[in-house]
Amino acid sequence: MEKYVIKGGVPLDGEVTIAGAKNAALGILAAAILTDDEVIIENVPYVEDTKVLLRAIEALGATVKYIDLHTVSICGGTIKKDADLCVDDEYIRKIRASYYLLGSMLGKFKYAQVALPGGCDIGLRPIDQHIKGFEALGAKVDIVSGGKVVAKADNLIGNHVYMDVVTVGATINIMMAAVLAEGKTTIENAAKEPHIVDVANFLNSMGANIKGAGTDVIRIRGVQRLYGTEYSIIPDQIEAGTFMTMAVATKGNILVKNLIPKHMEAVSSKLSEIGATVIEYDDSIRVMADGRMRSTQIKTLPYPGFPTDMQPQMAATLALSVGNSIITESIFENRFKYVNELSRMGARIKVEGNSAIITGVEKYTGANLVAPDLRAGAALVIAALAADGFSTVEDIKYILRGYEDFDGKIRSLGGNIEIVDDDRETQKFKLRVG
Ligand code: UD1
Repeated sequence: MEKYVIKGGVPLDGEVTIAGAKNAALGILAAAILTDDEVIIENVPYVEDTKVLLRAIEALGATVKYIDLHTVSICGGTIKKDADLCVDDEYIRKIRASYYLLGSMLGKFKYAQVALPGGCDIGLRPIDQHIKGFEALGAKVDIVSGGKVVAKADNLIGNHVYMDVVTVGATINIMMAAVLAEGKTTIENAAKEPHIVDVANFLNSMGANIKGAGTDVIRIRGVQRLYGTEYSIIPDQIEAGTFMTMAVATKGNILVKNLIPKHMEAVSSKLSEIGATVIEYDDSIRVMADGRMRSTQIKTLPYPGFPTDMQPQMAATLALSVGNSIITESIFENRFKYVNELSRMGARIKVEGNSAIITGVEKYTGANLVAPDLRAGAALVIAALAADGFSTVEDIKYILRGYEDFDGKIRSLGGNIEIVDDDRETQKFKLRVG
């Protein structure tokens, strides 16, 4: 089984280029089948989640081609209306974003059948708001045996939808179902994440009429049809934040390139607050840290608040700071599973309800670790890079879901990390890096 082997203690130094946003890509790839024309999407991150979703889109009957590693052509015109629209469970259960095929298939054919979504185990993650939105547009939604969601409608008709919780997935899904519906749909209490705006911009570039994305009221006027387009995905805010915290935890100096500084404000301001030097340029940010940082308090919130997807990486960083920090997780209820692993490295963290109370320690000691999910996995890699001695991180399949060439990028910053398959390779790595 592949795992990372890491020798920590080296301050990471250099430049890293951020890939396209995974979470925007998942919405955009699914939305691409709404038109029968060819759509070309650039800056698609080459990660497991996008590869799996593209396989599922292909299994539906769409024509999917990689033009190069990061450019994908999708033609939804080859999906037959009477084709079996049941997405193959094997692919789809692996990723949570499979639920986007519900919105896009429902929007296109007024019929969708998709296996219930998988993804990271970070809490209950219900889809009631997605269902509420589809039903408001006139669809009948059933969960049938075998764990499938079936949504069908004679006609989708625009309506007013109020989201009881701010949800990224349901906001995107309802936008996709509504763009070809009759009349006007209003989504109130919509999520405002950068990838919501990116999916809306993409749909508009196909001829949709969506206004207000990025605010909490999104207005969609249904159009008759959508057309082919060429579109480039925004940079990945969470990958960027991961490297920014990595700079701080390893007391390094990293220029994080190809990002949108505005999207990073919550992370940048917390890193500045604890004492890191954060310098913003047009499309990059330099993060430097010299010595131990100060403590702080963080509460995860929907955008523009502090992202839940940066919570574990920030915890790994704060656990090395001076003093007591508190992180409150308000989005998902099961997102502290990395705490046990960090504790085995010497971290002092106590979880009480939805808060982690962190007492900073001077250093971590290398340990054999297991990644519990995607972002927690990234946090463990950060901790291992900051630790004294060797660590291993198992279950890297989670990390590969969302980070493109994670180990390669870290090596280019001077970090000692490699993917190994067995003990012999681990020994070779240890001999080589000393
Ligand atoms: C997306 C991101 C994920 C990120 C999360 C929050 C993708 C593929 N994933 O996940 O990386 O951590 O946003 O920024 O983009 N909820 C309900 N009912 C619903 C839907 C959600 O109660 O129908 C709740 C969830 O349990 C959670 C909160 O709403 O407590 C936010 O979830 P949501 O924004 O939908 O997260 P995802 O779209 O699953």
